[in-house]
Amino acid sequence: MHIHSRIADLRGALAKRGRIVFVPTMGNLHAGHISLMEQARAHGDTVVASIFVNRLQFGPNEDFDKYPRTFQADCDKLTAAGVDVLFAPTEADLYPEPQEYFVEPPGIQNILDGEFRPGHFRGVATVVTKLFNCVQPQAALFGKKDYQQLMVIRNMTRQLLLPIDIIGGETVRADDGLALSSRNGYLSADERAEAPRLYRLLNEIRDAIRNGNRDFAALEQAAIAELNAKGWTTDYIAIRRQHDLSPTGDDKQALVILAASRLGKTRLIDNLEI
Ligand code: PAJ
Repeated sequence: MHIHSRIADLRGALAKRGRIVFVPTMGNLHAGHISLMEQARAHGDTVVASIFVNRLQFGPNEDFDKYPRTFQADCDKLTAAGVDVLFAPTEADLYPEPQEYFVEPPGIQNILDGEFRPGHFRGVATVVTKLFNCVQPQAALFGKKDYQQLMVIRNMTRQLLLPIDIIGGETVRADDGLALSSRNGYLSADERAEAPRLYRLLNEIRDAIRNGNRDFAALEQAAIAELNAKGWTTDYIAIRRQHDLSPTGDDKQALVILAASRLGKTRLIDNLEI
């Protein structure tokens, strides 16, 4: 695997490499990231990963400073997964001057996770655009684990006419159902044992809807009450339309249940398509 931190070196290395498939990450790689790397292979000739912990998408009270940085172990995993090129810029490479121009997502950036993380999706959209401009891929993969992020990137790419196919990868889970996440490492042993409740509840809501329950507000409230009774602090559990994450009543559109809740200091997100 070739590793580049400087943009000019990366661009030189990627010239004449055929169809480029890109998987951006913030490192601390787990099986969820690696499954995206492995799927990438089927979509092009050269698989490029990036590792960059993007300050712009973290709020002032979020975990930018303590976000786990495990570069050497990440390189070993990427090499084993057959990734061809790793782009690992420093902040000085990617933000050589203060960022004054931003990619501003529309209203979707203010709902669900955006309501609880102001500026987050603007930070994501801006850095992903910059990473796209460095790597210039023909396709890019994003996990459904971060469902709202995938929608923001998909819609941004379409509306800005970026010539990139956006591909969504299924969420990879631990055996007990907990979605893999770099933030799972913050959980204590007791919290880790409790954490799979979130996905179990999403499945219960899905089963109820499949069995004809259309009282979405009651389903959401009951799940929030159960989580909070078990010591969680829930930001939202929401049944939404898949295509724009807008609220919906009794209709036949494809739905997704999205959730964000905190166990102690650790904020977990998850979702389930219906
Ligand atoms: P990060 O959290 O490192 O995630 C990188 C990619 O891995 C994202 O597309 C994410 O959805 C995917 N991913 C994470 N956990 C997953 C799981 N359990 N199963 C499948 N895919 C999973 O998301 C980011 O970084 C950043 O916001 C980024 C897009 C790199 C911009 O900074």
